[in-house]
Amino acid sequence: MTSATGSPESRRAARNAAPPHRGVRRLAAASIGVALAVAAVAGIGGALAAPRADLSPAAATTSPAPPPPSATAIPAPTLSEAPVAEGAFCDRPEVQAGIAAGDDPAVIAAAGGGEGLRQAVIRGIAPCIDLRDPSHVWFVVNKTMPMEPIDFAPSDWVAPGGVPLGNLAAVRTDIAPTVTAMSEASIAAGTGQIGMQNGYRGYSVQQRIHNDRVASLGKEAGERLAARPGYSEHQSGIAMDVFGCTPGCSSSEQFGTTTTYQWVVEHSWEFGWIIRYEDGQTPITGYDPEAWHLRYIGPELAAEYHAGGFRTLEEFFGLSAAPGYLD
Ligand code: DAL
Ligand code: ZN
Repeated sequence: MTSATGSPESRRAARNAAPPHRGVRRLAAASIGVALAVAAVAGIGGALAAPRADLSPAAATTSPAPPPPSATAIPAPTLSEAPVAEGAFCDRPEVQAGIAAGDDPAVIAAAGGGEGLRQAVIRGIAPCIDLRDPSHVWFVVNKTMPMEPIDFAPSDWVAPGGVPLGNLAAVRTDIAPTVTAMSEASIAAGTGQIGMQNGYRGYSVQQRIHNDRVASLGKEAGERLAARPGYSEHQSGIAMDVFGCTPGCSSSEQFGTTTTYQWVVEHSWEFGWIIRYEDGQTPITGYDPEAWHLRYIGPELAAEYHAGGFRTLEEFFGLSAAPGYLD
């Protein structure tokens, strides 16, 4: 059963008040492998009760429009004593080999782990860690940082096996097993299956969604819900909208009220996933809270994100707040 106690807000507050610790559990790749070995492969999308998430103007119109987001200063990042690669980080052979092979875990290992990579980015000693490149787990896109290239598409994507599927239910092929494993772990904890939809959305699909939102809600409210093409994590193939099934599936908009969500708050990091748009972070992210929108950053970085009590990737990497587009 879930170990969640209290509201998500109170638990996060306690987490943020505690000094970050770095001796956190690391997800063993073997544990994912074991979970995958027992995972079923068939999707059951046809049985779903139309989870909507980003495509739901109805849900968007039920709450009063908050004031426009304004810039919020992000506290200066802490430069800790954590292991940081010395010298010319990007000249190191293991870093170059990892970058060339697209092996993000190898690059992170060369940095001394997730905290080492984070510190290297914050210190500005890792120009080869391109935060705008959507092919990497350290990728950051927000309203002031479009992805490069703007029309990026992943090379391959697939529907995760053994989980309920909604529309556009595919993520980058190499991370699809983590979705299955995460859902299996939630089932084992007694909090039900994690369904997914709105994984990879190409540039033109995102453009249509953005246009629809702005047309129905106006520019300001619409753009707090849907990103412009080239600015959406969905275009990277390493983000998705989830919903809970215990056993009936509720909508993505209802996800924040479910026990499945409570489990995700506590455990998604173990599988490399974080909740990207948390409550109270609109002045930094520029988006209304989306309890259902998960982003894959890999287990190494996610462990540090969780242990440090971070609530935005902007804060994690010492970036500026991105409450609105620059044009
Ligand atoms: N709903 C999120 C912010 C997106 O459109 O990418
Ligand atoms: Zn989303």
